[in-house]
Amino acid sequence: MAIEDPSYAFSLPIFHSEGLNTHLLPVQNEGIDPDQIIALHKRHRLKMLFLNPTYQNPTGTTLDLERRRRILEICSKFGIAIVEDDPYSIIGYDGAIIDSMKSMDKEGLVLYVSSLTKIIASGLRIGWILGPQTVINHLADVKQQFDFSHPNLPQLIAAKLLSSKHFDEHIRRLREGLKIKRDLTVQSLENELKGIISFFVPEGGIHLWCKLNDEEIDENLLFKESLKRGVVFAPGSTLGSDDKYIRFTYGRVETKSIPEGIRRFAQSLKSLIPTC
Ligand SMILES: Cc1ncc(COP(=O)(O)O)c(C=O)c1O
Repeated sequence: MAIEDPSYAFSLPIFHSEGLNTHLLPVQNEGIDPDQIIALHKRHRLKMLFLNPTYQNPTGTTLDLERRRRILEICSKFGIAIVEDDPYSIIGYDGAIIDSMKSMDKEGLVLYVSSLTKIIASGLRIGWILGPQTVINHLADVKQQFDFSHPNLPQLIAAKLLSSKHFDEHIRRLREGLKIKRDLTVQSLENELKGIISFFVPEGGIHLWCKLNDEEIDENLLFKESLKRGVVFAPGSTLGSDDKYIRFTYGRVETKSIPEGIRRFAQSLKSLIPTC
């Protein structure tokens, strides 16, 4: 199978523990390059593509619509299944609806996966899958064998929340709050670390993917220095990139603590740069 590089999928042990070989597709600002799927397929006979096309974790990028079409064409031609992992599209800051790959799929190639994790609570463990009936039947059977089914209580809570008249308002406020947090994170980084760090500004989601411009920075040391000051981030290497990147996640942090968090992170980073 092929996964994006970097990606959340990279950090998951599930594929390797099932004995699957994963091949990497580099993520650019417009998402993965469809032609690279062909090149990978020629070498490795891909069976599956695992993608997080909208506000990707960790890069925050969104796969371009034209590329989505082209990927569907390629996968149809070569018989490659697609898993579209989409927990973030509902939290685009301006409320834009981006066509999911599933909505463009005429042939049942796409298995669409999402959850309440990023919009309600990860602890509910409620998610959903859309796909061809035969695949869903098989997955339902696997789930049944796994744990007999999800507990009723979280399902009841989720059903109440989803049917509540306050749900849309909740999503609107979530988007608004996340945009404020993104802006504050970006502004704080510009104030503290202009020229030292560069980043892609996402239009949705909860992550800011930053490149450390100094190639000599030791990722482990930076992590330790930050931790000492009460700040954590995801080191780029855990998500598949080389170690000159870091991921900030502003989903849960309190808005008012963002500038102070970035100030402390900046102190940590500067303490490792001899010229600062
Ligand atoms: C792209 C992506 N997929 C899936 C997940 C996990 O979601 P869940 O809690 O629904 O398993 C995450 C969480 O970080 C994610 O970023």
